[in-house]
Amino acid sequence: MTNRYAVVLAAGQGTRMKSKLYKVLHPVCGKPMVQHVVDQLNTLELNELITVVGFGAEKVQHQLGEDSHYVVQEEQLGTGHAVLQAEDILADKEGTTVVVCGDTPLLTAETLQKLLDHHDEQNAQATILTAHADDPSGYGRVIRGGNAQVERIVEQKDASEEEKAIQEINTGTYCFDNQKLFEALQNVANDNAQGEYYLPDVIEILKNESDTISAYQTPDFSESLGVNDRVALSKAEKLMKQRINEHHMRNGVTIVDPDQTYIGPDVQISSDVVIEPGCVIEGNTIIEEDAVIGPHSTITNCSVGKGTVVKQSVAADSQIGERVQVGPYAHIRPASSLGDDVKVGNFVEVKKASFGSGSKVSHLSYIGDAEVGDGVNIGCGTITVNYDGHNKHLTTIQDDAFIGCNSNLVAPVTVGKGAYVAAGSTINEDVPAEALSIARARQTNKEGYAAKMKSNKKE
Ligand code: UD1
Ligand code: CA
Repeated sequence: MTNRYAVVLAAGQGTRMKSKLYKVLHPVCGKPMVQHVVDQLNTLELNELITVVGFGAEKVQHQLGEDSHYVVQEEQLGTGHAVLQAEDILADKEGTTVVVCGDTPLLTAETLQKLLDHHDEQNAQATILTAHADDPSGYGRVIRGGNAQVERIVEQKDASEEEKAIQEINTGTYCFDNQKLFEALQNVANDNAQGEYYLPDVIEILKNESDTISAYQTPDFSESLGVNDRVALSKAEKLMKQRINEHHMRNGVTIVDPDQTYIGPDVQISSDVVIEPGCVIEGNTIIEEDAVIGPHSTITNCSVGKGTVVKQSVAADSQIGERVQVGPYAHIRPASSLGDDVKVGNFVEVKKASFGSGSKVSHLSYIGDAEVGDGVNIGCGTITVNYDGHNKHLTTIQDDAFIGCNSNLVAPVTVGKGAYVAAGSTINEDVPAEALSIARARQTNKEGYAAKMKSNKKE
């Protein structure tokens, strides 16, 4: 089998984005553009994937980590110059090199595979991925000669009026015979409107050497959307969102209002889940069968078990079991774990707390740094007093304990199995199993007090 290499171009600052953030790090559906591109490439069988990053672009390397090798392009002299930075690693290798821009987040592995297959079938030295654009402005145009053979690509800024009318665009994705590519790059000049070394010029150079140039036109223009500014970014977001939502709906997920539902590309959702309007579901979230999410919930990096309902709530980096009820208006903060049949009701905040099965904290409570057993009932307004100004301390509430309303549990503290805490208590010592602890001032009633007040009142 032929060796396959990929070069991802990600060194451009992205001036047109007008942003502090490198262009290719701008997220689309929660994932940086360049990560979308690299994730798709990495599903193909590649011998080597190299990302060209700009000087000081540690953030791009940090984002992609070990998904890629890196070369640095210190000055952004153009896309041809960018590919040339991979010369030391690739130039003498035999095989096919795919070049992709880091700003085309919608490109799919299926299309890349079709491009590679077409390149092999045609025995070509270069194959361009092209698309038909209703509005081609901004893109390089594909110039075809006799027999509709591709001859060259002309950039918008260098194009004549006649060439600008051409609607077949260069998507910025190509396959090359690797050695031919690096030979041709030596001959790319920068005598053009932008004074840059254009990668597309390689096409004309190879054509003039009688190499076979081919083009594979993808039927779906939207895949080739190149994001150069924030208007295009919002278009990419919309298209990606639609693609993701349709994928889940086809897999049996009900999405009540797909226009108002934002699901990240790596989220996994089982069939018969219902997503109500206004939800944002991100990161590596997994949602199991029959769960109902929303309306208006944000879930990031959580697992949500079968039949669980999460209404108007926020949850992050936590495990939520089966048949759990969350919300309305609950906040599940990181490192929490809710067992099966747990209830976390309205205005409850949970942080770094584990709940066994069947436990309930139904109203207006803060449970942080806590281990709560099975079958525990936590009354309205309970607070784990976890922070002394320097350190966080653990509250342990053992199985079947009952915490009365408006209690403070001053950590570190343990409420034993089956114990009761009377309403309004401030508990700062352990409560033994099965005991009742009352820690509040005793009530005194002053009979006839109101009448006394009235008679004291000055006329
Ligand atoms: C490029 C193509 C154009 C094509 C379009 C598709 C060139 C000259 N033009 O134009 O034909 O229709 O993509 O979207 O290639 N980059 C570097 N180093 C550089 C310059 C750019 O790494 O010196 C990277 C950028 O980060 C970006 C990619 O290359 O990810 C493309 O560069 P960009 O400036 O966006 O090119 P376009 O003008 O969109
Ligand atoms: Ca671009």
